Amino acid sequence: MRKPVMAGNWKMNKTPREAAALAKEILPLAENASCEIVLCVPTVNFHSVYPIIQNSKIHLGAQNVHYAQSGAFTGEVSAAMLAECGVRYVIIGHSERRNMAGETDAVINLKTKAAIEAGLIPIICVGETLDDRQAGYTNTLIAYQSVMALTGLTETDVARLIIAYEPVWAIGTGVVASDEQANDAIGIIRSVVGKNFGWDAAGQMRILYGGSMKPDNVSGLMRQPEIDGGLIGGASLTAADFSALVHFGDIPS
Ligand code: 13P
Repeated sequence: MRKPVMAGNWKMNKTPREAAALAKEILPLAENASCEIVLCVPTVNFHSVYPIIQNSKIHLGAQNVHYAQSGAFTGEVSAAMLAECGVRYVIIGHSERRNMAGETDAVINLKTKAAIEAGLIPIICVGETLDDRQAGYTNTLIAYQSVMALTGLTETDVARLIIAYEPVWAIGTGVVASDEQANDAIGIIRSVVGKNFGWDAAGQMRILYGGSMKPDNVSGLMRQPEIDGGLIGGASLTAADFSALVHFGDIPS
């Protein structure tokens, strides 16, 4: 059985003080959740958020990592630095970074290896644009992105990590993938990972859906057999919405 994960991606939102206030609001709501909860906060918020969640069921996540261990990489942060700040999970290859920071599949593979080396759990993002989908490239593209990200990893590494299927057209648009579209895409990812890295690893690896996941669509998505949780942007920025997502099992369909 794969344990569901609900990961909030706060993106570039919340100052350290605002972040601490939101983490305090989220803390009690997470008490009786049956899923793993991760807050991927801006790097400057680690110090204000970590003490609040440190002894709870909520884990600290980062939104990016550099692939080198150290060196002349102005503005970057290494995996060991994240780990020492209490970070457990790290988002790698978000479409916003693929587009705005020019991250390639090869760089995403290096970052994934660096994160694993430091004991972090990568949350690797894959997903197609609307043009890709309309041209019929979705399955080929997400299979390619997944295999490229995992190249060179052992079966044990692959079993532990997380992939997030985030169709670019659904991110921040309010247009959510249908339950079937999300389930089908995630099934494609699981089967390509199984073929390339072993079926046991693919069966254990958790694959999330991301893109306009909200309280009113979470229960349908989470009933799909392939979907193991969510990577949530906008709806992770208020305690009320995030609580509803974390308690997806309580929402009547
Ligand atoms: P939204 O939930 O705001 O669509 O963002 C999804 C996302 O990009 C999470 O990484």
